[in-house]
Amino acid sequence: MENINDRAFLPPFVRTGTTTGPHRAAEQAAGRTRGGGEMTAPKGTGGAGAAARAAAGPRTVLITGVSRGLGRALALELARRGHSIVGCGRSAEHVRSLETEITSPSRHFLTVADVRSDSNMAELAKAVVEKKQVPDIIVNNAGTINKNNKTWNVPAEEFDLVVDTNIKGTANVLRHFVPLMIEKKHGIIVNLSSGWGRSAAAEVAPYCASKWAIEGLTRSLAKELPPGLAAIALSPGVVNTDMLHSCFGTSAALYQTTDTW
Ligand SMILES: NC(=O)c1ccc[n+]([C@@H]2O[C@H](COP(=O)([O-])OP(=O)(O)OC[C@H]3O[C@@H](n4cnc5c(N)ncnc54)[C@H](OP(=O)(O)O)[C@@H]3O)[C@@H](O)[C@H]2O)c1
Repeated sequence: MENINDRAFLPPFVRTGTTTGPHRAAEQAAGRTRGGGEMTAPKGTGGAGAAARAAAGPRTVLITGVSRGLGRALALELARRGHSIVGCGRSAEHVRSLETEITSPSRHFLTVADVRSDSNMAELAKAVVEKKQVPDIIVNNAGTINKNNKTWNVPAEEFDLVVDTNIKGTANVLRHFVPLMIEKKHGIIVNLSSGWGRSAAAEVAPYCASKWAIEGLTRSLAKELPPGLAAIALSPGVVNTDMLHSCFGTSAALYQTTDTW
């Protein structure tokens, strides 16, 4: 099999004008610094004021896919910095294990939910309203990648899984959470993209297609949001996770750990 390492996740993986780490990304998305993302510029004092208030103190951050990889690392670090996490993943075992490690567990709401399910996301949104934990920031992180394979050899169900998780899963979250943010008049939406959201590599066509979709979806979304809300597509860099292992094999070990990220 052709080695995809040297062509794929590298230079284009970290977007021009985007950021090199999640915390700077949050700052950038919050409008303190401006990069190359598509954002709505807060118009008028109401929007700008709400955005400034939202950026000022501890925030509630919804992170999908907190059970492993980048989502888990981000949840642990943001909790350590005093923020409250609303998180979901499919694996109950991994979600429970996160609960045992996270700072101030009672401050967070970690649950088993599947982003592919519109009703799961509706229930999650209802629960955060009841718990008064409507997010200030959404990180649409949950994602999956197809096993390396030529496009025409990818089984239909596997292609569906990538599209259902990466694209439709993100849309399911937006459908139920953006109206809550609009009601609060502030909110930042960070959709995890990839270098492969602006470039391409062999054998990961479903994944590339899904991340190109995320770039387009986010640009459209940003044009729709009212003042005080913003959306940005973020390429997180190359990080040694289960996903990287799937596409890079043992070479994944050459890249930064989730702790370093
Ligand atoms: N690692 C990298 O170098 C890299 C590079 C570019 C972009 N990204 C993007 O960053 C994000 C995270 O990637 P990662 O490397 O951390 O991947 P990962 O290690 O495979 O973790 C994926 C996470 O998503 C969750 N997930 C998958 N399907 C889900 C579903 N249907 N509902 C809820 N949660 C689901 C998984 O948990 P469960 O299995 O428990 O559900 C897991 O917590 C992805 O969007 C990925 O495309 C990563």
